[in-house]
Amino acid sequence: MVQKRAENWISVDTLDETGAAQELERLAREIAAHDVLYYQEDAPVISDAAYDALRRRNEILEAKFPDLVRPDSPSLRVGATPIEGFGKVSHEVAMLSLDNVFDEDGMAAFIDRVRRFMGFPEEKVVEVAAEPKIDGLSASLRYEAGVFILGATRGDGQVGENITANLRTVKTIPERLEGESVPDVVEVRGEVYMGRADFERLNAEREKEGEDLFANLRNAAAGSLRQLDSSITARRPLGFFAYGLGEISEVLWQSQQEIQDSLRGWGFVTPPYSRLCSGMKDMSGLYDELRVARPDLDFDIDGIVYKVNCLDWQIRLGTVSRAPRWAVARKFPAEQSITILKSIDIQVGRTGTLTPVAKLEPVNVSGVIVSNATLHNEDEITRKDIRVGDKVVIQRAGDVIPQVVEVLKDKRRGKTRRFAFPECCPVCDSRAVREEDETGVLGAVRRCEGGLVCPAQAEARLRHFVSRNAFDIEGLGNKQIAAFFKDGLIKRPDDIFTLVAHDEKSKAKFASREGWGELSVSNLFVAIEARRKISLERFLFALGIRHIGEMMARRIARHFGSLEALEAVMDAIVGSFNKKTGEAWERLMSIEGIGERVARAVVVFFEEAHNRDVLKGLKEAGVMPQTVAKVESDATSPLAGQTIVFTGALEHQTRLEAKVCAEMLGAEVSSAVSKRIDIVVAGEGSGSKRKKAQELGLRIIDEAKWIALSQRT
Ligand code: IVH
Repeated sequence: MVQKRAENWISVDTLDETGAAQELERLAREIAAHDVLYYQEDAPVISDAAYDALRRRNEILEAKFPDLVRPDSPSLRVGATPIEGFGKVSHEVAMLSLDNVFDEDGMAAFIDRVRRFMGFPEEKVVEVAAEPKIDGLSASLRYEAGVFILGATRGDGQVGENITANLRTVKTIPERLEGESVPDVVEVRGEVYMGRADFERLNAEREKEGEDLFANLRNAAAGSLRQLDSSITARRPLGFFAYGLGEISEVLWQSQQEIQDSLRGWGFVTPPYSRLCSGMKDMSGLYDELRVARPDLDFDIDGIVYKVNCLDWQIRLGTVSRAPRWAVARKFPAEQSITILKSIDIQVGRTGTLTPVAKLEPVNVSGVIVSNATLHNEDEITRKDIRVGDKVVIQRAGDVIPQVVEVLKDKRRGKTRRFAFPECCPVCDSRAVREEDETGVLGAVRRCEGGLVCPAQAEARLRHFVSRNAFDIEGLGNKQIAAFFKDGLIKRPDDIFTLVAHDEKSKAKFASREGWGELSVSNLFVAIEARRKISLERFLFALGIRHIGEMMARRIARHFGSLEALEAVMDAIVGSFNKKTGEAWERLMSIEGIGERVARAVVVFFEEAHNRDVLKGLKEAGVMPQTVAKVESDATSPLAGQTIVFTGALEHQTRLEAKVCAEMLGAEVSSAVSKRIDIVVAGEGSGSKRKKAQELGLRIIDEAKWIALSQRT
């Protein structure tokens, strides 16, 4: 495991009572903060091993000063408190955590403890059921009369979140239990996870869409499961391994192994490689086997769980604070090596994200040669004070990409300098900025604003520009864009509209290019010509401004009516001293659905000279976005200021129409049912959202009522 460097910590032995109390307070605060990052935001900032080390230090101190155990001690808590948005579920049988051991001695100590507690002689064999420890999220599934009725996260172990609708979308969770011996009430406990191949596919898609990537399989599973809209979860490939039981109406088993057999009989998948061990040799054997198999498994595991097999013994052994005495997890060590950081490269992703990458003196980390490692973002470099020339500890843990764990600062020789993160894009030299969220908190990611002209982003942006919901130019697909881009014929969107002129002047005619003929070239030119007139909303969407999807582009287009009007307001904002005040900024912010983050993205786009050049180029090439009639929302309608959720299928309107209609009447449309919703329009087949709305006592109306309401105005 990663030992947080000992010199950062005062030794526990030297702490007196006052010092220990202070340290326990600090640890409670620090661990709670990491819990929030891990459980609620799915964005941990320290490795599991470093986190374990914090908890262990807390445990050691509490053992030494039992009177100082705080009411908010991490040892009395399993995870984080439930997040807002989901209903709460009390666990009748608490969802526990596990104590960790890191080596054979720890494992032997566990078996010894069991023997001592039970009063067994030293030679008594303690059979344990060993299972891989799946690195996902635990869930509890309640079945009544064999039917799945409630699913929850672990939460703080006592109270979790109701995520039934999301769990129903997981294919390996049966709706109904098969077989005969199914108790009337049974809670199945297990781990929701994402497979490696699915994870890579999901991240590739997210990269294409310009969304942030998930750091590892666990975060991807967590992010997918914590969606308030279960249709999003349904599109994420999640699996479920069942490993135990919670509340049960009758006890039909004598051992953990029999429970596993039943779980399989009911239709669950149990963790592969599970097996019964009778002695240390067996237990270590499986540990070694799994360490070897681990890189090739499709799911992430972070250790092995050993559970006393006999259920009677489990009951007698019971639980201590947050973990059972009858089980323990042996964690895999993170594989680490030390090497030299030769340089820090800044890579520019297709959406403009600047990612620092450590270039390393190649080093062997448990059989794999590593020469690059991620540095995540600029804050990480500052926090760890990573400098070129440093000796660094590299780790390959569950994460796919190696990481720089720490810098060996005492090994620094000669003059080194703090790394200055570039404020301009290393590829196109445009400004690279960090966005603030609505609350003014600076985001971790620095992004190149070069958008349309940054070569690192240009091709992807061009593909977006001509895509179906943007300029939709027939004959100009990804393949053609790639070829034209490579030859330097289309570098920016406005180049598309000068292709004809270019071809007329050029000796090497397009028609003689590979894959082209007279007819296809003339068709392409006609298609381009036809797009010189285009709706303003398509035009704005095509520009690929961050956060401006189709809906937002439509709102902006409707609000301003013409590109000139939009540009005039942008000029006023860009030219003003404080960009976030003044009439022009207020006007932009007044548009339905536009918050500070989106408004800023629009301003940033127009601030960038390169982007203005492209707009100028497009105009000069005769591209004319069509003016649209301005529609102001009707503030006097009875729907003004109301928040509406549409769920289920509507017969007379598409969802989009209904949404636009509602917004025109001054209502806000939301996709998630919560307390703050005023009206839920429930069409055909509106299952879980309708149910939730009923539970919350919200106003629910059918489509006919909705139409009457929206037309009365
Ligand atoms: S048994 C009382 N078995 O590890 C025993 N847990 O650190 C509770 N986990 O919350 C859990 N694989 O999310 C058990 N085969 C397995 C597991 C497993 C993964 C997770 C589970 C639990 C955490 C405890």
